[in-house]
Formats: sequence, structure tokens, C-alpha cells
Amino acid sequence: MSERLEDIAAAMVTPGQGILAADESSGTIKKRFDTIGLESTADTRRDYREMMFRAEDAMKNHISGVILYDETLRQKAADGTPLVDLIKAAGAVPGIKVDGGAKPLAGFAGETVTEGLDGLRERLAEYHGLGARFAKWRGVISISKDLPSWGAVKQNAQALARYAALCQEAGIVPIVEPEVLMDGQPGDHSIDRCYDVTEWVLKTVFAELYDARVSLEGMVLKPNMVIDGKNARKASREEVAEKTVRCLKATVPAAVPGIAFLSGGQSDEEATAHLSLMNAGFDMPWALTFSYGRALQAAGLKAWGGKPENVAAAQQAFAHRAKMNGLAAKGDWNK
Ligand code: 13P
Repeated sequence: MSERLEDIAAAMVTPGQGILAADESSGTIKKRFDTIGLESTADTRRDYREMMFRAEDAMKNHISGVILYDETLRQKAADGTPLVDLIKAAGAVPGIKVDGGAKPLAGFAGETVTEGLDGLRERLAEYHGLGARFAKWRGVISISKDLPSWGAVKQNAQALARYAALCQEAGIVPIVEPEVLMDGQPGDHSIDRCYDVTEWVLKTVFAELYDARVSLEGMVLKPNMVIDGKNARKASREEVAEKTVRCLKATVPAAVPGIAFLSGGQSDEEATAHLSLMNAGFDMPWALTFSYGRALQAAGLKAWGGKPENVAAAQQAFAHRAKMNGLAAKGDWNK
């Protein structure tokens, strides 16, 4: 495969395919396993991810890249094959979450800044050696009556830009993820408030990327959709699609090759429906696809339940969501 950033980014947004976000930190995957009553150990985490990466039809036809957590990038399947090799064999690009998580921002009650810039150059070099060709960094912005503050928006955007520049120096495509939370507290904001905050955040992020000399052609944006808070859901699917596309057109330069959404707590079907409506209804300068975590994995996780005898059923459930989202990436999904 070509090592040019533009070519890697293009492969990540191959038409009809999208990214599997399987980069839950050990804390987050424990929460997911708690829902099926399974203990989170290195082996159960390996078994779960191996189940997905061996779902051949889904991986070959609908998944262009997989975001991994540090542990998984180094792990081997039960038969000794590195998990990274399973991903490459399916024709997907391996990627790595490199941020250290959103931590309370000093002086800004209720807001966070994402950590992990110290030593990042060295870590990226190691990850490149282990096979990663793209990375992910998530900045988190909460909405309330008084938030976000300009200071928090700016500091998260600056961290994203410094991360993106370091990635490109290392030959790694940065996924730039500024997430305006749908499921934060109190979660009662309107879709128009989400539009305004998302526009503000994206404008700021692209200004910082420019100042940091990041090549837009060699990155992928991972934004939230423009949607109302989870405790005040009123907007129709059509309204979410229309306002999201309008906001992205107002903020994301056409030089960016692709936009891959996070699902952010939307139901599986909503996340699919919204993406399909956008691709079916609008002309856009970038590829528009998915980089879902929960909306791709929830059904497979439930079907698996931690039991070896359920692997085939779990792969089928995962493959179904991958296929539906692959259709949505082309605007061809119908209920
Ligand atoms: P969700 O799709 O579950 O929001 O996760 C995507 C992701 O990678 C968040 O950083």
C-alpha cells in the first residue's frame, strides 16, 4: 500500500466503506463488558476484538480501517497471528488512539482538555513500526446553558492541531475528532444550539490546523452530527441530516478528503439513517462516512455475550450493522 498521506486518507474513506472504532480504553471496554456480565481481562478483550476482525465479509466489504487501543495493537489472536495482521489481511488500514483522555481543565469548571502531547512524537514512531497508518485524538466539548467557554474550545483545538502536525511528520494520517457531546449533562440543548456550538468549534479547529501547518489533504475529520441533546430529542431525521450538512459546508474546507462521523450515543438505526439521508440528499465535496464505535458494535457484543459458541451469531450481527452503514455511506440504506 502507498505510504502517501493522501492515499492512506483516501483508503480510509473508500466509497461504501467506513471505520470501525474499536479503540475503547480499558476503562470504557469494562463498562461495555459489564452490560453482558463479562469480566474484562486481556484475554476476553482479545477474544471480543478477534471475533470482529475475523468477520470476513464485514471487514473486506464494509470496513476501510479499524481504530485500536494500545493493548490491541500489540495483541495476538488465539492462534498467534497478530491482530494487526488480521486487519491488514481484510484490506483495512490499522489505526491507533493516541490521546490520553479528556481531563478536567484547570480554571474551567465542568470542562476538559485532552492530554497526551508529551512524548507523542516517540509514541507515533513506535506505532508506525507496529503497523498503524492513522491515529485518532478526541477533544470533548460539553454544552450547557453557559458552556462551552472560548478558553476550552481554543485549548482543545490547539491540542488537536499539535497532535495532527506530529502525526503527519510521522507518516500517519490524523483523525481529528472534536466531539460536541450529545449525551453530556444536562443534555437538554436544542439542535440549533448544537449547530451554533459545532460551527464555532469546527471554525476554531480549522483555524488552528492552518496555524499548525497541517495538510488538509492528509487528514480525516471525525465530527459529531448536528443533533439535539439526548434528554430533549425532538428533531426529525431529515432535520438532523440537513443541519449537519449545512454546518459542515460552512466550516470544512473542500481539501479535506473525508468526514467520518462518530455515533455519540445515537441508536444503531438512527446513526445509519442519518448518514444515509445526508449521502442521498446532498452534493458534497468530501466523502461522508462512519467511524462508529457503539453504533457498529452494540448488536454484536450483545449476541456474543462472552461465549465461544456465540461467535458466529455475533459476527453475523456485527456484519449486518457494517453492511447497513456501508449502504448508508452511499445513500442507499432503506429501513
Ligand atoms: P461512538 O461511535 O460510540 O461515539 O465512538 C466513536 C469514537 O471513537 C469516539 O471517540
